[in-house]
Amino acid sequence: MTPANPRILPYGEAALAEAAALIRRGECVAVPTETVYGLAADATDSAAVAGIYAAKGRPSFNPLIVHVADMAMAETIARFDDEARALAARFWPGPLTMVLPLAEGSPVASLVTAGLPTVALRMPDHRAMQGVIQASGRPLAAPSANASGGISPTRAAHVVSSLGGRVPLVIDDGATEAGIESTIVDTVRRVILRPGPIPAEALPGYGTGATPGAITAPGQLASHYAPSKPVRLGATRPVPGEWLIGFGAVAGDDTLSASGDLVEAASRLFDALHRADASGRTGIAVAPVPHVGLGVAINDRLVRAAHPR
Ligand code: TXA
Ligand code: MG
Repeated sequence: MTPANPRILPYGEAALAEAAALIRRGECVAVPTETVYGLAADATDSAAVAGIYAAKGRPSFNPLIVHVADMAMAETIARFDDEARALAARFWPGPLTMVLPLAEGSPVASLVTAGLPTVALRMPDHRAMQGVIQASGRPLAAPSANASGGISPTRAAHVVSSLGGRVPLVIDDGATEAGIESTIVDTVRRVILRPGPIPAEALPGYGTGATPGAITAPGQLASHYAPSKPVRLGATRPVPGEWLIGFGAVAGDDTLSASGDLVEAASRLFDALHRADASGRTGIAVAPVPHVGLGVAINDRLVRAAHPR
């Protein structure tokens, strides 16, 4: 049963040790950064990342930002060119997120990138987030620690009132400094995807979009990922030539979750789509997924994947 309230521990050795233990067990922890409080989980553990979406009640899978402690960890995850390295040297640690190509053999779960070939990375400038990354030894995926549609939390109390017992532990280190989410840049296209604490003036050569206010909402970019084959939803059996992705009682060439577990299904979703796309078949069929809880987010992605192009 979900407890009504999370444990709240002040920043310190005990809080870091407990947070690291929870992270290594695949749980989420609310951790302050210099921007907002984040809902952090092991970015290499797809079930843990699915747990972030479940706790937030997020109705779609936007790709998440991965938080790293240092450049060594960053370079296992993403590919840096000279330009990206220069930005990192200038602004990290700090509230700048860079969208970079995934490194070969990147350990990040595909649910983190929503199946994209790129990853959003940042090195936070906060002792609590830095401490949890170091103590757990894991890169941490972390969106803001609020229920979906809610206001971003800048204090531990905001996290508690928004998420309650859906997060087991909140590290309290007072109010965050910036109070708004990090600036996000796409270093390949040289555009600012989300304005934030690092202003455009500090990023010469970076555009903010063709018309002011017309900046691409980063949350929409995930819809760019779609299989190359037609996708048919709500299938209980394949038509000839189709690869069937099963769920629950519908067995297929592959399954999102044989036991009908939505957290497991979310954690396997993008891998399953990639496998289906790579198969020799001409089409992809997907079994019905119940439209409750995480199923709403799963169906959101499936509907986008099935959208005719
Ligand atoms: O300040 C922050 O950035 C906070 C703290 C906790 O670090 N985190 C945060 O994460 O705001 P989140 O998940 O709310 O924002 C992630 C944004 C989304 O709008 C998403 O679309 C974009 O980053 N994003 C992530 N990966 C991307 C990618 N590969 N390409 C383009 N945009 C991406
Ligand atoms: Mg948010």
